[in-house]
Amino acid sequence: MRQVRTLGLLGTGVIGGGWAARALHFGIDVVAADTSPRMEQWIRGAVDNAEGALARLTFAPLPPKGTLSFTTDLAAMARRVDFIQENIPEQLELKQRVLAEISRVAPPDVPIASSTSGLMPTDLQRDMQAPERLLVGHPFNPVYLLPLVELVGGERTSEQALDAAAEFYRYIGMHALRVRREVPGHLTDRLQEALWREILHMVNDGVATTGELDDAIVYGPGLRWAAMGTNMIYHLAGGESGMRHMLKQFGPCLKWPWTRLEAPELSEQLIDRMVEGTQAQADGRSIRELERLRDDYLVTIQQVLRQFDIGAGATLRALEERLYVQNGAAARDAAARAASAHAASAHAASAHAGAAGGDSLASGQPLRLIETQVRPEWVDYNGHMTDSRYLQVFGDATDALLRAVGVDDAYRQSGRAFYTVETHVVHKAEALALEPLYVTTRILALDDKRIHLAHSLYRRRDERLIATGEQLYLHVNRTAGKAAPMDVAVHARLDSIRAADAGVPEPAGFSRHLHLSAG
Ligand SMILES: NC(=O)c1ccc[n+]([C@@H]2O[C@H](COP(=O)([O-])OP(=O)(O)OC[C@H]3O[C@@H](n4cnc5c(N)ncnc54)[C@H](O)[C@@H]3O)[C@@H](O)[C@H]2O)c1
Repeated sequence: MRQVRTLGLLGTGVIGGGWAARALHFGIDVVAADTSPRMEQWIRGAVDNAEGALARLTFAPLPPKGTLSFTTDLAAMARRVDFIQENIPEQLELKQRVLAEISRVAPPDVPIASSTSGLMPTDLQRDMQAPERLLVGHPFNPVYLLPLVELVGGERTSEQALDAAAEFYRYIGMHALRVRREVPGHLTDRLQEALWREILHMVNDGVATTGELDDAIVYGPGLRWAAMGTNMIYHLAGGESGMRHMLKQFGPCLKWPWTRLEAPELSEQLIDRMVEGTQAQADGRSIRELERLRDDYLVTIQQVLRQFDIGAGATLRALEERLYVQNGAAARDAAARAASAHAASAHAASAHAGAAGGDSLASGQPLRLIETQVRPEWVDYNGHMTDSRYLQVFGDATDALLRAVGVDDAYRQSGRAFYTVETHVVHKAEALALEPLYVTTRILALDDKRIHLAHSLYRRRDERLIATGEQLYLHVNRTAGKAAPMDVAVHARLDSIRAADAGVPEPAGFSRHLHLSAG
């Protein structure tokens, strides 16, 4: 299967729009196809609406945003994409027909995933060409913020297609949950339906209102569910002997049982109660307002869970690690080139053969560690890149340098880290949305516990220096809670980069506020 650079969307309603926003945010181009031309405006609006919350999800360095195009020519979309996500209405015959048509156009190594909430992949792949690439990739609304995607294969689905889909979904920050066996409703919607069915019964019987039933979740179990599912929670509820005790104590209730297995009739009276109840809960707030509220808390919850490396927070952490590693990979190459240029020039000097030519550092150019772009969400009301993003870009450059010399996740987990002690940012010109930028980095000074860095941020269109960032970092042993010498190998790598730069004059404007004094 191929690397996914362009995602094709078949159907661009609520779910198609969510997929578009998520994929674009993480640098994937999207070709959105829908039979209704009206949906172009809709999907562009949906992507814009998602941007605010998505932009706050992570500060890890993101690749340039993907580009969105729209077509009503489904076949044209299928010919030019690397992965197709189908999101048309939940009707088996319609999906079967459209999937079969698309499969005759899309190359056979292009996986086709259906967002179906409950249909079985064996039924969906029935009339397809190369049916082994069809799978269910069932997301949750809002797709751009909820990481869960259920992966289900049908009788003819290949392992390769499931693996390729899982890899793509992880790349765009999702948790791919492999469902062992296809069942109607997959896993999550069966669980949700059981709860919803009971809600309908209780509203129908006048036991509670929709608001009271939502309170029954929101103030209690809902808080637990974000990090631990029902099974782990019940394991904890059983005391020292966990689930065994829990089953002994509450098992008999399951036989009474408390709940019912068939949904009530959706009578006009029940529909009215459900609608009036939820309208009272909304209390005059529009759907858009409520969506914004939901998106904001979903972002914050994931950031909190990240601290515990649990549930959706663990997914966010893994995504960020991937983004930092990717950011650091280019830096590692540049740093390696710098170190070998230094070794070559030292060798050449000792042989009186003159300076090594060709390498960027040897020819007086500092390390270029970061290539980035002013993402639209970085822009303030003046249309310029906003202050905090300068710090972010310089921080990313430092991170890239440190990763390049071996300060990675394993290093930090050993209890050692670099802490920022001081930062000076000087603004010299502005950058506009979508402008390509790059950062060069010099190590001005180094000892066994400190590094003094000078970053310069340029805009590529005219090579103009737009800001400088000067930073002092202290190496600490977090277990001991104090400054400590850095790893010897890390120091040696940093030192060879510093030495490679040493002959080049120091950039103007640095070292006014910061310098390393002895001790
Ligand atoms: N809404 C949810 O919460 C949710 C969650 C998870 C999965 N899903 C699943 O996602 C799928 C889409 O649901 P939705 O809520 O986005 O629906 P929707 O009605 O919002 O969007 C469906 C889109 O498909 C387009 N369409 C219809 N026929 C088409 C065709 N032949 N070719 C191309 N486009 C066509 C429509 O114009 C529309 O834009 C369904 O299978 C649903 O079960 C929905």
